[in-house]
Formats: sequence, structure tokens, C-alpha cells
Amino acid sequence: MRLQKFLAHAGVTSRRKAEELIAAGRVRVNRRIVRTLGTGVAAGDRVEVDGKQVEIPADFTYAVLHKPQKVMTTLRDPEGRRTVAEMIPKALGRLVPVGRLDYDTSGVLLLTDDGDLAHVLTHPRFGVEKTYRALVRGRLEAADMRAFLAGIRLEEGKTQPAKVRVVRSGAQYSEVDITIHEGRNRQVRRMFEATEHPVVALSRLKFGPISLGELPPGHVREATDREVSALRNIARNTQDDD
Ligand code: URA
Repeated sequence: MRLQKFLAHAGVTSRRKAEELIAAGRVRVNRRIVRTLGTGVAAGDRVEVDGKQVEIPADFTYAVLHKPQKVMTTLRDPEGRRTVAEMIPKALGRLVPVGRLDYDTSGVLLLTDDGDLAHVLTHPRFGVEKTYRALVRGRLEAADMRAFLAGIRLEEGKTQPAKVRVVRSGAQYSEVDITIHEGRNRQVRRMFEATEHPVVALSRLKFGPISLGELPPGHVREATDREVSALRNIARNTQDDD
């Protein structure tokens, strides 16, 4: 892997800033200052920035799928329904989904072969921030907004406060962005049901630092260095807390 990419992947800084660090003579490989951009590093090499060692991360793959509706978030379905497996390019290797979206929910789904990171990102105790756009029945009133902020009572207990932003309001239907930190089963649908605004359509716009952007449904892109660093930072902070 090229040195600047390695530094970005390791979460040290962005690739561009890494180039500056290298040019400034602040990076050593196997104890020698390296100023040549594009120098290759491999497992076993010792890389230091300002004298501090940077761990070489295993070369995992992180990708983002825009999961369409009517697709299972599994690699195989005993009932023969479509699964996300058919959308993952073979060249990316054996990736698994991080968490789950309902069959009828579309949007951002992170895929990776980094089992440790996947475990941390789905750890209920930590709670990665997730934002969904929901088309719901009816108009949300101030009392509904207060209820979401206070936490909604579901059968297994009250949810944590959710941030809700009305995108478009109408008497028949409203469009709402909702941000939650938990990952209970069908949580968003059940929260809106509890306030008598059943969900008609649901799409995940963000999963932690990963945004859906313009990725068309059914398509996969590799995560950017910046996204991978941000994901690793979440994992690092979580593990420090444990
Ligand atoms: N909440 C839901 O209700 N469904 C999802 O797929 C994700 C969150």
C-alpha cells in the first residue's frame, strides 16, 4: 500500500495532509525518513509519524450499498427473496452487511470483511448515529415532536430521545428526517406507529459518517479514506471505553 494511503487508512490524517507530512520529513519507514510520495509499505514495516509508531491495519474492505426496497439484508434467503448478496461485486471479496435494514427499507448499508469493526458498529451499548427519511401519514404536531424528544414508549421500554426534522408537511402525508442511536427491531416504524403516523416509506440517509449521497439503488461504492478513518475512530473510542 502507498505510504500516504496507509497513513489515511490508519486514521492518522487525510491522504492530502499525509503527503504534506511525508514531504516535511516527519514520516519514517523502518527508522529512515521517507520523503518520496508513493513509497510502498507492507505488513511488517515499521511506520512512524513524529517518532510515534502507526499500526498497519489489515487490508480490510469497506463498501457502501444503496439497498433497494424489497431486498433482504442477508446473504441468502430460504424463501428465495432477493438479497444484498447479488449486488456485491465479486471483486470486493466476501463482505457482510453491518447491521440490518428491513425488507421494505432502502438506503445506506455498510458492507465489510472487518468483523471486529462490524461488531463494534452494531454494539447496542455504543449506538452509532443513524438518520432515516420517513414518509409518514398525517401532519406531525408539536406534541409529536416533544414525544420524540422525550423518548417513545415501545413494548420493551422507552426509546432514547430522537431528533426529528420535518422536511415537508401535509395533511395526508409528511416527510420527516429522524436520527436515532439505537438499533431496535423495526424501531423507526414502531416509533411512528406509536404516535399514530404510520410509515409509508423509509430510507436510511446516514449511518455514522457514511451518507447515501447520489449512489443509485442497488449500487455499491467503496468507502472513502475519510469515511474509513471516521469508522475506525468510532471503533477506537468505543474500545477505549470498554
Ligand atoms: N427502523 C426501522 O423501522 N426499519 C429499519 O429498517 C431501520 C430502522
